[in-house]
Amino acid sequence: MTDTVWWKHGTVYQVYPRSFQDTNGDGVGDLPGITARLDYLAWLGVDAVWISPIYPSPMADFGYDVADYCGIDPLFGTLAEFDALIAEARRRRLKVILDFVPNHSSIAHPWFAESRSARTNPKRDWYIWRDPGPDGGPPNNWVSNFGGPAWTLDEATGQYYYHAFLTEQPDLNWRNPAVREAMHDVLRFWLERGVDGFRVDVIWHLIKDAGFRDNPANPDYAPGAPEINRFQQVYSADRPEIFDVIAGMRDVLRPYGERVLIGEIYLPVERLVAYYGPDLSGADLPFNFQLIQTPWQAEAVAELVARYEAALPEGGWPNWVLGNHDQPRIAARVGQAQARIAAMLLLTLRGTPTLYYGDEIGLGHVPIPPGRAQDPWERNEPGHGRDPERTPMQWDDGPNAGFSTAEPWLPLSADWPTRNVEGQRSDPASMLTLYRRLLALRRDHAALAVGDYRGVKPGAAEVFAYERFTGDEVLRVVLNFGAAPQSLPLPEGDWTVLLSTRAGRAGDSVRASLALDPAEGVILRRA
Ligand code: NOJ
Ligand code: CA
Repeated sequence: MTDTVWWKHGTVYQVYPRSFQDTNGDGVGDLPGITARLDYLAWLGVDAVWISPIYPSPMADFGYDVADYCGIDPLFGTLAEFDALIAEARRRRLKVILDFVPNHSSIAHPWFAESRSARTNPKRDWYIWRDPGPDGGPPNNWVSNFGGPAWTLDEATGQYYYHAFLTEQPDLNWRNPAVREAMHDVLRFWLERGVDGFRVDVIWHLIKDAGFRDNPANPDYAPGAPEINRFQQVYSADRPEIFDVIAGMRDVLRPYGERVLIGEIYLPVERLVAYYGPDLSGADLPFNFQLIQTPWQAEAVAELVARYEAALPEGGWPNWVLGNHDQPRIAARVGQAQARIAAMLLLTLRGTPTLYYGDEIGLGHVPIPPGRAQDPWERNEPGHGRDPERTPMQWDDGPNAGFSTAEPWLPLSADWPTRNVEGQRSDPASMLTLYRRLLALRRDHAALAVGDYRGVKPGAAEVFAYERFTGDEVLRVVLNFGAAPQSLPLPEGDWTVLLSTRAGRAGDSVRASLALDPAEGVILRRA
């Protein structure tokens, strides 16, 4: 596997820092907490840790509102503790990926204070200021992703500023070369400190229509859906000039060697793959969230994988995601049994998988009692908040699940006394053991890590089957999305079960036909 870079054959693990491990008893996770759990990540078998934002921030959007791009918020620790994290990660051969939030800063960033101070301020054009519309209202019909108008009037200077998210998150003007330069310096600051790459927040948003045209109404809008869906985001995002911006970021990373640029992109497959950029000058991994957005049904998933594989540009490396801090937990969406085949799917498809902390122990939906909601989106549009997927990691059956000595900032899942890392570690039938075995298989079998992919006839409508192969090895993955047992024909030859979602089946020989339990997945190897 020496011919491929680490981010192709490796696996990314997302840490939401507030919820991973608290070390100073304030109920919020911190950097020393992540460092303390690196041994766990190495034991689990992932290759890289992506840490959601840790920069100084008023925390209006829990760190996605950055007040200083080159510092660490005291809540999370210090730069020295960050350096220690990098050093300790390196000792364990783990990579560290930072979240980079270039689309908007915090309203508390000194750049915005300057920009807002006067129309003539040299930083005025660092943000997006427009005169009121003809009726004195907002300049156009763009809506905030968190509901409500995307424009806020600054009374003192008589202009509106644009914010794709909260009022406290003014959008930077990426058409301004000075903004690009400043942001490139930010990337260099962290690259020099040793980070291995960036996950770029809402990368498809960075450039907006030069004419600020109104977005067209969305004919498919269903009442009750977030307000942002009332319009098609035709002019506020995914503009052609974005590719130049991303190529600029790539140019900054290039001299540093094998660093990865991951882009957060919620777009349909055809648009998503454009973010590899002309001649692959774009993101190394345009985040592929399609599994999150596709019905959990064998045929739909098989069709999706085929469509994505076919759409990839020559040389573009695929990737897959099942969950993140903005999406309902996979176990909440499909249930515990199907979450096991989801794990097998994620870790056997072709391309880099990203795991979301807690999914490996099957964390589900955590109901948030009234009064404990934290996410500002929940305040703006009740029911759409993301707290249920951001609850603390459950390490053991001690106080607060080993997460903190204090009451955690968000509640634990009610099943924490039994659903925790310690309890699952030595249980051969646990979700954690399944994840760990899958990660080990990916390491040991080039067919899984870097091999080719082909879909195969499953033999039943509720089954998805495919092969991963190199010149030396053929592995067949068979996933039962249904609730009924299946008996499926197998191609001639002897097959060995490398792993099943059902404990105790590994090592069995299979011939001619394969029996599957409800919601069982297996990985077979042709002898
Ligand atoms: C996407 C992030 O993942 C989300 O958590 C955040 O609220 C928005 N971008 C705004 O930065
Ligand atoms: Ca803390």
